[in-house]
Amino acid sequence: MDNEILLDVQHLTHFFPITKKIAVKAVDDLSFQLRRGEIFGLVGESGSGKSTVARCVMNLYRPQAGRILYKGIDTCDRRAFRKNRRMLQTTRQLIFQDSASSLNQRMRVCDIIAEPMRIQHITPPRGTHRAEAAFQMHYVGLDPSFLDRYPPELSGGQRQRVAIARALAMEPELLVADEPIASLDVSIQAQIVNLFKHLQQEHGFSFLFIAHDLAMVEFLCDRVGVMYHGRLLEVAPTEELFQHPLHPYTKSLLSAIPIPDPVRERARKLIPYEEEPGAPRGTLREVSPDHFVAE
Ligand SMILES: Nc1ncnc2c1ncn2[C@@H]1O[C@H](COP(=O)(O)OP(=O)(O)O)[C@@H](O)[C@H]1O
Ligand SMILES: [Mg+2]
Repeated sequence: MDNEILLDVQHLTHFFPITKKIAVKAVDDLSFQLRRGEIFGLVGESGSGKSTVARCVMNLYRPQAGRILYKGIDTCDRRAFRKNRRMLQTTRQLIFQDSASSLNQRMRVCDIIAEPMRIQHITPPRGTHRAEAAFQMHYVGLDPSFLDRYPPELSGGQRQRVAIARALAMEPELLVADEPIASLDVSIQAQIVNLFKHLQQEHGFSFLFIAHDLAMVEFLCDRVGVMYHGRLLEVAPTEELFQHPLHPYTKSLLSAIPIPDPVRERARKLIPYEEEPGAPRGTLREVSPDHFVAE
């Protein structure tokens, strides 16, 4: 893996106005970098701002402050975005938790998977759109007999895999997946995470993987960032983070992971985390190589 930075999120801030005077600060001065070819995991409890980060990165929200550089292009700058629109739309793909529910109910699976290629006039590498769809379906573990089915005929898990196949068919350089497997059965979750790992190794795309399941993150990710109330509290290589968590909040999150061994599981203690009032804003400091903690 080289160290080229594909995605550079700088001081990202996004809030949602509730009334004229009140706003929810969903993301607060958050910075991180995604290197080309790596899988970066963003974890944190529900409401910590993960989805807002994903949506800002994919230009679905326009942040109030900060910059998001993708291949050096400031994607939040309207002119730069317009100038690079096609490149941005073809090389970045998003999968979200309920991608399945946004599939067009009246399109056949093969057309759904091929639609982005059609829209962007991309020649299917395997000859026809149908062949391409079949290939991607095989990859995500969907039977080819589904090619001519419609979403309502599929289970939720199958629909989510159609959404994943559609994103992968574009052979993205950046895949942003916002809790892509949370709606799937546990057995299929493992299968899809294995698939992600395999595909990422094969194609080397860069992957922003958002999850609250830490076991999946530990298995899949190269580096992990821990989010809390819109901020990053700790960023480190995965093994380092799981072996030597430094921030009390990270320790608390890790203490909540169930242990498969029943004896150790019974002895497992939850470490509560309560942020002290007036706690520092949390600038990240590098405490050991590539390991950053807020202080
Ligand atoms: N469209 C919205 N309008 C108002 N508040 C929102 C909106 N989307 C998210 N929020 C708020 O922003 C915060 C972060 O939400 P979100 O990014 O969805 O977190 P996560 O994905 O980690 O659960 C939460 O407090 C949430 O209630
Ligand atoms: Mg979310």
